[in-house]
Parts: sequence; C-alpha cells; structure tokens
Amino acid sequence: MKKTLITNIGRLTGIVPEGILRKEGKEMGKVESLEDAWLLINGEEIEAFGQGDPDTEKIPGLKEHKGVLDAGGGTVMPSFCDSHSHIVYAGSRYGEFIDKINGLTYEQIAARGGGILNSADLLHETSEEELFRQSLERAKEVMAMGTGSLEIKSGYGLNTEDELKMLRVIRRLKATLPLEIRATFLGAHAVGRAYTGRQGEYVDMVCREMLPAVAAEGLADFVDVFCDSGFFTPEETMQILDAAQVYGLRGKIHANELAVSGGVQAGVSRGALSVDHLERTTEAEINALKNTGTMPVMLPGASFFSRLPYGEAREFIRSGLGIALASDYNPGSSPGGDMRFVMALGCIQMRLTPEEAFNACTLNGAYAMGISDRTGSITPGKLANLIITKPVPDLAFIPYSHHTPFISRLILKGKELCFPD
Ligand code: NIG
Ligand code: FE
Repeated sequence: MKKTLITNIGRLTGIVPEGILRKEGKEMGKVESLEDAWLLINGEEIEAFGQGDPDTEKIPGLKEHKGVLDAGGGTVMPSFCDSHSHIVYAGSRYGEFIDKINGLTYEQIAARGGGILNSADLLHETSEEELFRQSLERAKEVMAMGTGSLEIKSGYGLNTEDELKMLRVIRRLKATLPLEIRATFLGAHAVGRAYTGRQGEYVDMVCREMLPAVAAEGLADFVDVFCDSGFFTPEETMQILDAAQVYGLRGKIHANELAVSGGVQAGVSRGALSVDHLERTTEAEINALKNTGTMPVMLPGASFFSRLPYGEAREFIRSGLGIALASDYNPGSSPGGDMRFVMALGCIQMRLTPEEAFNACTLNGAYAMGISDRTGSITPGKLANLIITKPVPDLAFIPYSHHTPFISRLILKGKELCFPD
C-alpha cells in the first residue's frame, strides 16, 4: 500500500476521535486542532498524525515510496461533505433568473410550468451521454472547490425512464471520480407533465413503478420527496417513505422551504436520515427533531439566491441539536456548489461561529449522507480526503475572506488531485 507523509502542516484541523458520528448543541462550537503537525496516509486512508517532527525512520514502507508532501505551513482539514445537491441536470435556467429579477417568486415560476418541469423537459431531450458530460463538469467544479463527498439527487426525470437515466449518470460519476458519492431517488420532486392534475396517481406510480425499477438496478442509496406547499403533502411523503422502506431506502426530505409544511414531522416519523431546507420552522419542528437520528440540513445558498429567510440555525443549536449545511447546487434555486461560500453564508447570515459552520460542512454533512464513519474528520482509518490550504491565520479566515483563493493542494482517497484533467 502506498504511503504518503504530509509534513510542515501549520495547523491540522478537524480532529475527531473515532466513533463520534455527528456533533450536536455546544459540541458544534468545538474544533480540535494540532499546531505544527504531520499526517501519514496509507493507501486511501489516514493512518496516523502527530505534532512536531515525525520519525520517518520508524514509518514502515515510507522510505520505499519516498512519498513526502510539504504542506508549506498551511492548514490541513477534511474536505467538505456536501449532503444535498442536484448537479445532474441539463442546460441551465438563466431565463428564470431574469424572471426573478423582475419580481416573480419560485412558486409563481413553478405554477406557470417553469421551474422543475422546465428542467425535466430539457433533460428529456438530452442523451444520457451528454447529461453525463455536463454533470461531470459540475462534479469536477465542486471537487476543485474542496468538496470530497457529495450527495446527488434525481428528480428532473419525472417519468421512469428519465429518472433511471439520471440515476445511471450518478452511478457513472461514482465509477469515474474519486469523489465519495451517494445517490438519492427524488421521483416526487414535482408531478410529471403526463400526470398533470392527477397528483395521487403520480404518487402511486412513484411507489409502484419507479421505486421497484430503481431498486432492481440498485441505483439509489436514499429516497427524497419535495414535501412543501404546492408540491407533495406529508401524507404522500409518508406513503413514499413507507414504500421505499421495503427496499431499505431511508429518507432525506425536502421540507419547510416554502411553508411550514409538516415535512419535518413526516420525515422524523419514518426515521429519515435528514430533513433539508428548513427555511421556515417553529418550535414544533425543533421538538420533533430532538432525540432522533435525523439530521437537520440547512441550505443557505438557496436562501441567498431565492431571497428566502435563512434557517434558524442558532435556535436549533441552542436546543441541543446539530445541523449540517449543504449547497443544494441546482439550476433553479442555488446554481452553485461552493461549500466555502456556504460556510461564509452560515457565519454571516445565520450567525454560526466559524467552528459551527466548519462542523456543519464536514462531519455533520457526512452524517447526513450516512458516511460519517468513513469521512468528515481527521481520524485514523477514515478516508484521506483533505484540503491543504495556503497559510491562513485562523479557521475564521476561511469564511471571512471567502473570495480569496485558499486551496493549495487537494487530496481525495489518498491521491493528490491534479487540475485540469
Ligand atoms: O432544493 N426545492 C426543491 N428542489 C430544489 C430546486 C429545484 C429546482 O428549482 O430545480 C431545491 O431548492
Ligand atoms: Fe434541493
């Protein structure tokens, strides 16, 4: 197994003991670091780390491989874990950007047949090969910005063939890239055009036709429903979650973006892994989430782009809950996947401390993908998914100076990424 030693690390940040799978409440404000450190990679994984000068003579296998990498005094931190994205889509929706500038809301655009249905039409006309090519570009774009694991949803197909097409593209991305990818089936993102006015029948079709087809090819790790005003109800959401349970698919629910939708309670009642968006919540949602395994995920990039309220992250943390932050990279409400910007929005708009935002974008993001035993922190045995930064004076500098390039080198699954390729 190839070993690489990273030396001259100014600060090794995001150290978490083995077995801690998420951070909640006050723990979210703590980030453990070592100054003047080294880190040893063995194959795809972190083997060890320490302070001061490593005794290279004592590291078996290191000499043969001469694998030493100088961090130049920068910070070494885990790559970002982005637990909510829709990067598989065709073309773009810049026309709706203009509509929004002219005053239309997300719901008004959707109600006149734009929005998600617009992307579904474009995707229908796009070949699987071309869809893969466009999606690969976006995946490489987010990798270059420091993302090391990414959840990707279907949901612009809205008929069985096109949903399968999207999920096959995600499978191909998984096989092509060193990114750790999880796939989510989001057939209930909107009612497909062929079912206009027949939402109940569409939901039945999602359960009886789409889900079995997706499961037969093993294409999804999770299931999602857009449970919100103008989209799907909590009852329909629970119907889909129950149908998905048969195939071992846990929920990751779009909830409370446009209204207090009941989506949080629907998700929690069915043991969802995460409930996402949460721009509009009350005490009832916070109470529903307490003492559960469900991670609340907030998407400040969508609040920013769609001028929605920002989630009440402080209230969640004060109540002892953890939160994750994710990009929601999609063509309609958040056309970008820069997790450092997400971290900055978390600090600036949601008043998270840099430490809370960091944990929300790393370990808790990994938890919301069910992979925090494998990634999201500096822990021996976890994937060597690392960002080596230029020298920065403090963790706070990263979200503070969020336009200043900060990445010096990137390592995914133990290997340095070379750009462009
Ligand atoms: O997470 N809200 C639902 N789905 C996406 C937006 C999808 C779209 O507009 O294309 C979201 O914001
Ligand atoms: Fe989304």
